Amino acid sequence: MSETVLGILASGRGSNMQAICNSIDVGEIHAKVGLVISDKANAKVLEHAEAKGIPTVCIERRNFASKQDFEAAIAQQLTLYNVKLVVLAGFMRILSKYFVNLFPGSIMNIHPSLLPAFPGLNAHEQALAYGAKVSGCTIHFVDEGMDTGPIIMQQAVTILADDTVESLSERILAVEHELYPKAIRLYCDQLLCIEGRNVKIISNK
Ligand code: GRF
Repeated sequence: MSETVLGILASGRGSNMQAICNSIDVGEIHAKVGLVISDKANAKVLEHAEAKGIPTVCIERRNFASKQDFEAAIAQQLTLYNVKLVVLAGFMRILSKYFVNLFPGSIMNIHPSLLPAFPGLNAHEQALAYGAKVSGCTIHFVDEGMDTGPIIMQQAVTILADDTVESLSERILAVEHELYPKAIRLYCDQLLCIEGRNVKIISNK
């Protein structure tokens, strides 16, 4: 099986991008990161990617007349680098149906809650404000909704009585760094099968 080319889209810090790269480096994922795209010129993720010798591109929404033109520019770069799996890792924009249809079943996202609870921004804050006793993280395929696509994997994290947004984010992030590489590995080994809303993990291959 040949290496799957990943295209990572991120807007910020890039710790998930680094966790994915580390898993590739130690041979846990049979893939390579073809490029990293950010919509923010000063995003730390670009520095981390450059330090690893990964091609980077910054594509800013304000340089395009429409959302579709912006997404077309992203898609063009992904296609140029032969990307097969688009990995959203802290990419702070909702992708439209137009973009999602260009990469059917091949866009993943990570969200720091147990979806469908607490979608969108400030998931940790939402979980604490709600008084939830458990949160966690979700890896899902992307559709045109906000954090609504078919769920691939989830892992729970207990919320402690004295948790703050910072302490909870830190514990969830540690789980994210374990779970995202696992989901990507399953995709790259062709062990994921989408049946409507259900993602089956093929175990007998
Ligand atoms: C993570 O918490 C992820 O779940 C969310 O955005 C954050 C990105 O963090 N979608 P990083 O840039 O990977 O460090």
